[in-house]
Amino acid sequence: MEEIQVRQVKEEEADQLMAFLLKHYYAEEPLTAGTSPPEPDAADKEFLLSNIPHGTCFLAILTEAQGQRIVGAVVAGPKDATAPQEVADEAAKHAGTKWGRILTALSAVETATDVCRRFQVPSSLHVHALGVDPAVRGRALGARLMTAAIQQARELGHRLVSVDCTSVYSARLVCGLGFELVHTLRYEHLKDSAGEQLIRPPAPHESIQTFVLRL
Ligand code: ACO
Repeated sequence: MEEIQVRQVKEEEADQLMAFLLKHYYAEEPLTAGTSPPEPDAADKEFLLSNIPHGTCFLAILTEAQGQRIVGAVVAGPKDATAPQEVADEAAKHAGTKWGRILTALSAVETATDVCRRFQVPSSLHVHALGVDPAVRGRALGARLMTAAIQQARELGHRLVSVDCTSVYSARLVCGLGFELVHTLRYEHLKDSAGEQLIRPPAPHESIQTFVLRL
């Protein structure tokens, strides 16, 4: 009988986590899909993997007759009130690249939301990526992964979990978990220095919605 378990990512599983993210997260995630080229930059991948040592990344593992495989992942890491400046600095550093365009969008969101100051907490566990294999979507696996990250945030003493939902599906999912909407930025309003739309995501995605859960 098939069974899906959610557990922490081990440090030696970086390659397996990235192989999964490339196939089932990056290929569809609206910021990645909405900028060219389709493949994420090395700096983007490095950033996601740098979160593993925090112990705040989780895998969903399916066990079936043929063996085990990763069918879901969540990548999260801590942030504090320095986040708006740090993301702006990173966006400037990577200007002119795909990761730079993505960081420019995330910097606009970070500056507008500034969740640690807004909610007067020293830190937040921020969810950077959530992906589920299409073969097992619609079974609340994304919610199970988010719940594992939330539990870990509590154990680590964070008083907030935050997430910038770039996809309508992840926004719906976190609403169902009791997250509150803090901010909405429509993709059509995000422009680059030449006045062109910065990110052109595929339908039905229309905005980046920032949500928080107070712990
Ligand atoms: N396309 C079409 N339908 C979808 C998708 C999708 N990408 N995702 C979920 N659904 C549907 C499900 O089939 C289900 O339909 P049903 O109620 O008719 O059965 C319904 O939406 C609810 O699904 P959930 O169980 O809540 O979603 P699930 O946990 O399976 O997956 C997730 C949600 C993780 C966001 C998934 O869509 C995904 O991996 N997307 C690609 C990567 C991505 O965009 N991630 C989110 C970016 S934001 C961020 O990472 C912080």
